[in-house]
Amino acid sequence: MKKEPFYITTPIYYVNAEPHIGHTYTTVLADTLARFWRLYGCDVYFLTGTDEHGDKIMQAAKKEGVETQAYVDRIAGIFKSTFEELGFSNNRFIRTTDADHVKVVQGILQKVYDKGDIYFGSYGGYYCVGCERFYTEKEIVDGKCPDHQTELQYISEKNYFFKMSSYQDWLIKHIEQNPSFVEPEAHRNKVASFLSEPLGDLCISRPKERLPWGIPLPFDSNYVTYVWFDALINYLTAIGYPNGPNFRKYWDNCYHLIAKDILIPHAIYWPTMLKAMGAGPYKGLRVHGWWQVDETKISKSLGNVVRPLDMKAKYGFESFRYFLLREMSFGLDSSFNEELLVERINSDLANDFGNLVSRVLGMTEQYQDGIVHKVEGEEGRLQAISQDISEELPKLMEAFRFRKAILKIWELVTGSNAFVEESAPWVLNKEGKTDQLAGVLYSLLESLRLLSVFLTPFMPETCAKLRTKLGLQALDNAVGYNELVKWGRLKDGVKIEKGAALFPRIEAALED
Ligand code: ME8
Ligand code: MG
Repeated sequence: MKKEPFYITTPIYYVNAEPHIGHTYTTVLADTLARFWRLYGCDVYFLTGTDEHGDKIMQAAKKEGVETQAYVDRIAGIFKSTFEELGFSNNRFIRTTDADHVKVVQGILQKVYDKGDIYFGSYGGYYCVGCERFYTEKEIVDGKCPDHQTELQYISEKNYFFKMSSYQDWLIKHIEQNPSFVEPEAHRNKVASFLSEPLGDLCISRPKERLPWGIPLPFDSNYVTYVWFDALINYLTAIGYPNGPNFRKYWDNCYHLIAKDILIPHAIYWPTMLKAMGAGPYKGLRVHGWWQVDETKISKSLGNVVRPLDMKAKYGFESFRYFLLREMSFGLDSSFNEELLVERINSDLANDFGNLVSRVLGMTEQYQDGIVHKVEGEEGRLQAISQDISEELPKLMEAFRFRKAILKIWELVTGSNAFVEESAPWVLNKEGKTDQLAGVLYSLLESLRLLSVFLTPFMPETCAKLRTKLGLQALDNAVGYNELVKWGRLKDGVKIEKGAALFPRIEAALED
């Protein structure tokens, strides 16, 4: 597998809501990928941030009775500090109000305008403020937005338009020739169906007197641009478009992670914008489904919003993170349920994984005074399982199959637990078979070391704790994946320490 630089982005989140399970999920996926490819030896840039211009942001500030700037500073601050508390490894947290971003957007507007791909005209259509976009006749359901189920607003005014339609044929061809441009396939099919109708042009401005909260157009100070022609460009700003070295380094291998709510802007508006400005298309769009809560759409008014910091306080963030990664099949919808979370923590983390760690370390303390004896002869099955995982994991991560990857790694957890039962170290100890006992324990300890490597992208803090228990240093990406996954790196004579359980069982009854 190649080791080219890897660029992974999340959407930039609107600052009209505080971080919830949905924002957390996409960012967890990006963080997991970033950590995996860094471990694999790639140079990775991971970007997340906030989207701060537009109508609904202004309205949200008004509702709070504060200046828009003060409002966006506050909510962006909450996103940023929450993401720090969750331990995300993003290289930058971008805000659309950042000075460099405003400059890049204006540069692109001018370039596309000079090229003749932006014109002044008038248009009337049905608009959703929630989505910040017009809907076509075909998309509208019972006169309402198919996503928000709210009445659409008829807007007609003089504005600037981007000639998106000029690039329709190019885009159709690009997608045909590069099927991995949009995945999974079900979402690619939606894009293809959208492209089977004539594309209109894209309205990219608002009169300043009606909406001052945007980026002024460089060629007409009475207008601002906002949301899509502003927001999508964040992916270029962060890596120093047009001339920065990071742009040249990362752009060719850029993957955008999104949920299906913003498929059309990312799969249609964005590639045509890139084409117009003369930048190459991104490499791939990866589209996941929606999290619901107890089978219901997440909404503030229903009071069913799941907040990551609440989950962290109650269960520890990595248990929640594990659940998100383990539960959702990429591309499909999933429903969150707190009882299900507790069940998973108890069965997968406390029982399967946590118990394995406690038992193996406990026996090493009991039978060998906590010292690793590197004895060969018992590695057969566990070595074979870990070798298989080490080969499959990069392929699964390349295919964005997070759930499958966890299930694959779990084969070593399950295999090790079975091996404990079958080899019965307590019997070997009783019968005085010290050499065989040391061989069995070495195989199990080495499997724990390998789990601390394989699971690091998924549960980094837990794996750091596990490595400390195994007397190992923090994982060093510079060593390289192929070395780290080789059987037998755990050294003879190392002192291990069982310490506290990695995942205490959740016994308490759930509160309402
Ligand atoms: O759309 N399930 O911002 P946004 C899964 N600013 N993912 C969810 C989710 C859910 N229930 N709810 C939110 C915007 N997400 C624009 C994007 S990008 C240039 C501009 C996640 O705050 C998911 O990643 O509405 C989704 O695409 C994104 O948050 C939408 O965030
Ligand atoms: Mg949204």
